[in-house]
Amino acid sequence: MCGIVGYIGPKKAVPILIEGLSKLEYRGYDSAGVAIVNNGKIEIEKCKGRLSALEERLKSNPIDGSLGIGHTRWATHGEPSDVNSHPHSNKDFTISVVHNGIIENYLKLKEWLISLGYEFKTETDTEVVPHLIDYFYDGDIVKATMQAVSKIEGSYALGIVCSKEPDKLIAVRKDSPLIVGKGNGENFIASDIPAVLPYTRDVYLLDNREMAVLTKDNVEIYTIEGLKVNKEVFHVTWDAASAEKGGYEHFMIKEIHEQPKAIKDTMTSRLMPGVDEIKLDDIKLTKGDLENINKIYIVACGTAYHAGMVGKYVIERLAKVPVEVDVASEFRYRNPLINKNTLMIVISQSGETADTLAALRLGKENGARVIAVTNVVGSSVAREATDVLYTWAGPEIAVASTKAYVTQLIAMYIIALYLGRLNGNVSDEEFRLIRDEMLKLPEKAEHLLEQKETIQKFAAMHYVHKDMFYIGRGLDFAVALEGALKIKEISYIHAEAYAAGELKHGPIALIDKGVPVIALATQDELFEKMLSNIKEVVARGAHVISFAFEGNDDISKVSDAVVYLPKTLSILAPVLSVIPLQLLAYYTAVERGCDVDKPRNLAKSVTVE
Ligand code: G6P
Repeated sequence: MCGIVGYIGPKKAVPILIEGLSKLEYRGYDSAGVAIVNNGKIEIEKCKGRLSALEERLKSNPIDGSLGIGHTRWATHGEPSDVNSHPHSNKDFTISVVHNGIIENYLKLKEWLISLGYEFKTETDTEVVPHLIDYFYDGDIVKATMQAVSKIEGSYALGIVCSKEPDKLIAVRKDSPLIVGKGNGENFIASDIPAVLPYTRDVYLLDNREMAVLTKDNVEIYTIEGLKVNKEVFHVTWDAASAEKGGYEHFMIKEIHEQPKAIKDTMTSRLMPGVDEIKLDDIKLTKGDLENINKIYIVACGTAYHAGMVGKYVIERLAKVPVEVDVASEFRYRNPLINKNTLMIVISQSGETADTLAALRLGKENGARVIAVTNVVGSSVAREATDVLYTWAGPEIAVASTKAYVTQLIAMYIIALYLGRLNGNVSDEEFRLIRDEMLKLPEKAEHLLEQKETIQKFAAMHYVHKDMFYIGRGLDFAVALEGALKIKEISYIHAEAYAAGELKHGPIALIDKGVPVIALATQDELFEKMLSNIKEVVARGAHVISFAFEGNDDISKVSDAVVYLPKTLSILAPVLSVIPLQLLAYYTAVERGCDVDKPRNLAKSVTVE
């Protein structure tokens, strides 16, 4: 997620912007830049890499000036590079902009601006903004910004400076965070509070569709339609470290709460209400290409592998192409049968996992076409694959993956629908049904998060156990594996996930009085069979917590406790059912006093074999 900082006041802007950006480093970034208004013109320094690289450049090329904007970029549109780094400007460098979010209609706006003679230098969605403002500018930057944002669809937090009005700093937001820091004779903007804490504890928390106009002595807030807003100052009492986590105790729980937005962002511009096709910019696979594919391999590690298991099920179900799913470290050494009729899908949050990358290379060497599903633009798997589908989860900081996983699931549905539409196996009716249900998932995920106290209570009851079992059938089995992995990773409880029908072939011998069993029962056609499996463990004394859709009350008769999920299609259930399992792992780890964000022996990105 990008970081924005802006300053207007009597001091030199550059050191303040750099310090502010350093406080936002936890958000993750791949490039950084500043734009400073100095002696009536805008001077820019920006580059790919760490903030220290930008600082080096600014040391050899110092910029004076006490009005400026700064940015750390987490690439979405266009790979990380000097030119794609923010700030972006209009042609004569009189207007500069930093942006966090995704502009959904940027291609349309870009074409329109090009037809008017505007020239574009970057691959970013953001670059339309300075040109749009330039188009509307007639001496009033506030008015021009309002007109420009009225044309923008999508999410944005924008910081804007104009060299012709060097007494103003503009901030405006919709669906991406932005705050204003109110100082004494100086004012600030930032994507998050930690960036302004060294200077002030008084902030305005901008709401959606609000715009702030800052001078050094004053802050005025308007709606984007120009109506004045009277906002209360929010006085920050937290310390800087907890401010980074947005008031949450750990990054993991913050990221669990970011899932509704991550799901929504990953669907953005690909799956749209009323549109009967999937739009994918970076996947060029055609109907003809697909006709030649007779086998799909999904290859990944850890949590991404579990998303791949869901992928196998949904691609086979919707696109009706045979899929094998493999752990990358096994795949690369088992002489898989790959040829030019093979499609490989590699899934990797980081895009840098050594085994996954090696599997991708093996696939390409043997003639396969490779689609990468990754969260990091410009990562190794993204660069080396034939096609890419980015998950727009934003940077994930906790080692245990949560929001990246749910976006990987969304990517699997998108690919399955895309392939199924290409080869005609998904009818208009089926497509519309799944699309409309998918678009409701963010709201349902939000609703589920509101019930977190129930899960917290289970965790308080069961954190003392040494063993846990997770059971499910079909897609529920794939989610059971992910739930068990989460609890192992962060609470160090021994957990096993089993296909519920397989229990009686061995593991049921381990079920004893009081052993917690997490039973997932979201698959309509397997519901009755799951009830029988639950009864089998209850008969051996297990303490069963079941997860089922609202309305399936029968399950309460055979379970010690039930968590009800908002109803959706069985095929989409993993996106919702994993959330309470993540919460269960989280609260259990907290009860056990574990280091939730940095579990022992684990690394976020495993770049060695
Ligand atoms: C590590 C992480 C896991 C992750 C796995 C694959 O083991 O701790 O959370 O699922 O690597 O990582 P990737 O970046 O390829 O998805």
